[in-house]
Amino acid sequence: MNDNRTYAIIGGTSGIGFALARNLVDRGDRVILGGRSPERLGQALTALGPNASGATVDITDRSSLQRFFAEVPALTGLFTPAASYATGSFADGDLETSEGLFKAKFWGQYWALHAALRHLLPEASVVLMSGAASVRPIGAPAYAACNSALEGLARGLAVELNPIRVNCLSPGTTDSELWRNRPDSVREPAYDYWKKLCIVGRPATSEEQAHAALFLLDNTNVTGSTLFCDGGYTFR
Ligand SMILES: NC(=O)c1ccc[n+]([C@@H]2O[C@H](COP(=O)([O-])OP(=O)(O)OC[C@H]3O[C@@H](n4cnc5c(N)ncnc54)[C@H](OP(=O)(O)O)[C@@H]3O)[C@@H](O)[C@H]2O)c1
Repeated sequence: MNDNRTYAIIGGTSGIGFALARNLVDRGDRVILGGRSPERLGQALTALGPNASGATVDITDRSSLQRFFAEVPALTGLFTPAASYATGSFADGDLETSEGLFKAKFWGQYWALHAALRHLLPEASVVLMSGAASVRPIGAPAYAACNSALEGLARGLAVELNPIRVNCLSPGTTDSELWRNRPDSVREPAYDYWKKLCIVGRPATSEEQAHAALFLLDNTNVTGSTLFCDGGYTFR
């Protein structure tokens, strides 16, 4: 395809972000990956080959984001799945957990796009990452609110940043490293529960989420939308 297209993926060194990077590189595009761990970054770049470059970055650190984007070329797209957070209940959880979640997931993506903005081409496409708990929460109300806020942010940004398009990918449970790195005793019951909650009866794959993100990056008539790649979870 066009070898002048470059996409930045903050959180591109594993899981959904890496799967998207693989799709983009395979079709001839260039990717710039960001993540905190230099080891994971190095492994991802080696796996993707010469059309991939990257740097370490922490999405919760605005100066780190400024450094990351300082030297990037003009961007055709930005995807921001980077997030590390804890969730908890409203009544029993501590307030810092909920605040930290917003800093990690909502403000991190807000700051990343802000730092990237002057590098985005007029025809660029931005895909934010939320999660299907936005419309069907199971506990953790701050997590539901954070994801809803991101979906609202995509709508607001689509208006303000036009002709740059801004959309949101809202996954259900996905068999990415996020879950694979958790103990079997946590992951397996969560997957079993998920199988009953959704319609397709299994977690998504990272590849399925990457396919949805790619659609949002590429489709030139979609902006301000949230795409639920959730196996039918949100309307069940
Ligand atoms: N998997 C699911 O079931 C699911 C469901 C709904 C929503 N989501 C959303 O999907 C996103 C996670 O994607 P994933 O499932 O593909 O997870 P993943 O495999 O754990 O990938 C997360 C990526 O983000 C990077 N990252 C994490 N924290 C970062 C930070 N503070 N700064 C920069 N990079 C950071 C990680 O690398 P480093 O650790 O090296 O930084 C990694 O590259 C989250 O927003 C999550 O809420 C996931």
